[in-house]
Amino acid sequence: MIITLDGPAGAGKSSTARRLATRLGWCYMDTGAMYRAVALAALERGLQLEDQEALAALAAALVITFRDGRVLLDGRDVSVEIRTDRVTTATRPVADAPPVREAMKQLQRAMAEQLDVVTEGRDQGSVVFPGAALKIFLVASPEERARRRYRERLESGDGSQSVDDILAAQTRRDDGDRHRPVGAMEAAADAIRVETDGLSLDQVVEQILALARRRGVTPAVPRQLPEAGAGSTISSAQ
Ligand code: DC
Repeated sequence: MIITLDGPAGAGKSSTARRLATRLGWCYMDTGAMYRAVALAALERGLQLEDQEALAALAAALVITFRDGRVLLDGRDVSVEIRTDRVTTATRPVADAPPVREAMKQLQRAMAEQLDVVTEGRDQGSVVFPGAALKIFLVASPEERARRRYRERLESGDGSQSVDDILAAQTRRDDGDRHRPVGAMEAAADAIRVETDGLSLDQVVEQILALARRRGVTPAVPRQLPEAGAGSTISSAQ
């Protein structure tokens, strides 16, 4: 079974999806991290970010693994590196490239096959998993999202950007996410909008769990794909 969580940057998708997966004993797939991993690999290999076919070939050849809350690229832990500003900037042309999106769609479907997965991104309910058991579109006001991001950065010791700086960058990213020709961020027609302004993480998760129960979703025994053999995998959220 699949639950999709889509929505703009900073709406709380990652923490919500992770917590939801833990509560259900399901796998958690962070598709933003996958696009980031492709961008990091492209930078490391010196690929031209305009060369969409080369990026797509790279995306199809990489092994991306989610394990114990970490992201591995060809077996190497890149969880921190993929969040740097340099990689965030390079992720834009990667995520905009239609051949890359096609490769990622195939990869994401293959990774989720036979598993119970909470997946988060921009196009998971609308494009990648149209038959998902439950589709959530998580929203929060731009100001609230920018304030959250500001607090997160401060907590990690980075006070270099003001709330206004973050809001301006976020507006640019939102516009890019909404207007890319393929895989644009949009709520699937059958997605349920969940507004997170003023709600705690627990309240949001409880709301989604209640919706999931109504769809017959039940907690599962955690499973992990076998290690043997190449291939991108996800394991249960920790
Ligand atoms: O959620 P995030 O900030 O980690 O996503 C990184 C980038 O990847 C961002 O520019 C949006 C893009 N993305 C996408 O186009 N489709 C997805 N399913 C997930 C992320």
